[in-house]
Amino acid sequence: MTMLPGIALCAAIAAVAWVLQGAYVDAIVLAIVLGAVVRTVWKPGDRWLPGIRISGHFLLEVAVVLLGASVDAALIARTGPRLLGGVIVIVAVTLVLGYAAGRALGLHHRLALLVATGNAICGNSAIAAIAPVINADGDDVAASIAFTAVLGVAAVLGLPVLGRALGLTDIQYGALAGLTVYAVPQVLAATLPISAASAQIGTIVKLTRVLMLGPVVIALSLARGGKRPGLHRLIPWFVVGFVLMGVARTAGVLPAWLPAPLRTVATMLTVLSMTALGLAVDVRALARVGGRVIASVIAALAILLGSSLLLVQHSEMRVALSTGGGDAPGLNAVIRAAVLAAVNRDWEVLGIKRGFAGLLGEDDVVALTRESVRGIGHLGGTILHTTNRGNPLKYERAGITTDRSDELIANARNLGIDAVITIGGDGSLAIAQRLHEKGLHVIGVPKTIDNDVSGTVTTFGFDTAVNTAIEAVDRLHTTAESHDRVIVMEVMGRHAGFIALHTGLAASADVILIPEIPYDIDSVCEKVRERDRAGRLFSIVVVAEGAYPTGGTATASVGGVAGPLARLIQEKTGKETRWLVLGHLQRGGMPTGYDRLLATRFGGAAVRAVAAGKWGHMVALQSPRIVTIPIEQVLAQPKRVDPRSDTVLTAREMGISLGD
Ligand code: F6P
Repeated sequence: MTMLPGIALCAAIAAVAWVLQGAYVDAIVLAIVLGAVVRTVWKPGDRWLPGIRISGHFLLEVAVVLLGASVDAALIARTGPRLLGGVIVIVAVTLVLGYAAGRALGLHHRLALLVATGNAICGNSAIAAIAPVINADGDDVAASIAFTAVLGVAAVLGLPVLGRALGLTDIQYGALAGLTVYAVPQVLAATLPISAASAQIGTIVKLTRVLMLGPVVIALSLARGGKRPGLHRLIPWFVVGFVLMGVARTAGVLPAWLPAPLRTVATMLTVLSMTALGLAVDVRALARVGGRVIASVIAALAILLGSSLLLVQHSEMRVALSTGGGDAPGLNAVIRAAVLAAVNRDWEVLGIKRGFAGLLGEDDVVALTRESVRGIGHLGGTILHTTNRGNPLKYERAGITTDRSDELIANARNLGIDAVITIGGDGSLAIAQRLHEKGLHVIGVPKTIDNDVSGTVTTFGFDTAVNTAIEAVDRLHTTAESHDRVIVMEVMGRHAGFIALHTGLAASADVILIPEIPYDIDSVCEKVRERDRAGRLFSIVVVAEGAYPTGGTATASVGGVAGPLARLIQEKTGKETRWLVLGHLQRGGMPTGYDRLLATRFGGAAVRAVAAGKWGHMVALQSPRIVTIPIEQVLAQPKRVDPRSDTVLTAREMGISLGD
């Protein structure tokens, strides 16, 4: 009963601090300040003291126990060994050097420890959490929290300026913010204006840093306990509670929704006990140590910032490249450009062999260096090999289909892969989108000879395929004319007629048949007869593999249309008709200059997209610029020939038959 007035007083002041808190001043700081203000104008009498005392100690210890629920060891494992290693090193360096600096500047042992821990881990909450562990004095806690908070805010405000001045990438800047800023809302305030990716990495790094509180609390309590008599006093009860909570969380005993409300309760209890500390603060004592504490906080901050900068500027990214789906001339040019752009940033590059097979243990993951990409820019194919049968979401082996995407993502994490640049058509992009939704950092590069990917003016490989097909039509012209024959040539493109249309128009075909405009066989034959009447006794028909007659429908499988079409034309016109399928000739050989350049620009842009953390985006040509667009948007609508486009219109105006 005697405790009630004091607890009620602390709760009332804490409530005011809670209401007044904002992004830059948290309730913990406000609670101390308000408590100290009250204490300056009115000294609480004996009636209040028991409650104030219990709020300042016991409630803080309960808060430490509740914080344990947020320590998820599995999360630390998922963070990745490199990032975790970096955070551990930075926290350790700041702790040790920050403590040494505090001592050198004249702080006594506990105060130096509070300042160093606060700066190394997470400011106010860390100071509050270790205060009972090292049995810190109320004035020391108040001093270290007050000055750490003020200087911490100054650091947040200066961080974007520093990031820009040093030319850090979004990812580097996000990591720097996560390593140096004290509170998650402040990390968001400093990183969200830069980019979502920056905020994402900042939050992960920050949360990982907070998790270091666990080992530090245990280490400090062991160090102190060592000097205490009796084993039962080795570790205080609340540290045992903290560890048990962490174990329960990691083992999945606590429901997933519980840590968040427990964290809020822990913060509320901390605010309450900070009010109690504020009510006991001796402002004159605070002023006496003020100068030394400020100097120590600045020293600790400088150590934190300096070591974090060293880490983020020298932490290379590990990027993996994969080529999936049917090959297209220009793949090697993308690989070359991406590898060179990445290694010139001191990043490491891996190549996943055969689509994603390399990440599923079915093929290799190889290192890609400057040497690996020497002299490959002009070569067709892909040095990484490819497959159009390796969808990790529907992986087929011996007639059984399984979803191996989680395994793929886990393997990528184990290899320390920070981002995957996947070069592929709509199929590969759909896979990329799903992997992105599952948390893999993916950047897409559009590739297909069919040119059927939305959002980009063209894909590399298309120009080469069209040029190969044009050369074929040129050759067919001379033989068709010599024999007064009709020749039907089938080109690729699946359900898009771009290759047929562009080839037919550029190579002066007489009939062009595409899936977007169903054809009438009589209309096609009429065109052949009309040419005969005009003394042009041969005709060239370019037909897309996905073309079909009016009344028919597009089918999943395409190809094999030239033969039946040629037989029908011969039957109906009486003219000798030959046919051929150009087939994979269109996918082979050297990329044209246009494709080489486009592929190279895509490769460079993909690396820039990684640096900017544009996960789930695809690089695209929106002439004259290369841009990035969300893959989701690309997949929303497939690209097809617009029958009202100027290309179709021009063909019609020139007298070319489109079969309708
Ligand atoms: O998508 C590219 C493409 O070349 C299509 O034009 C064609 O229909 C298909 O791939 C052929 O694939 P495959 O490599 O299985 O023969």
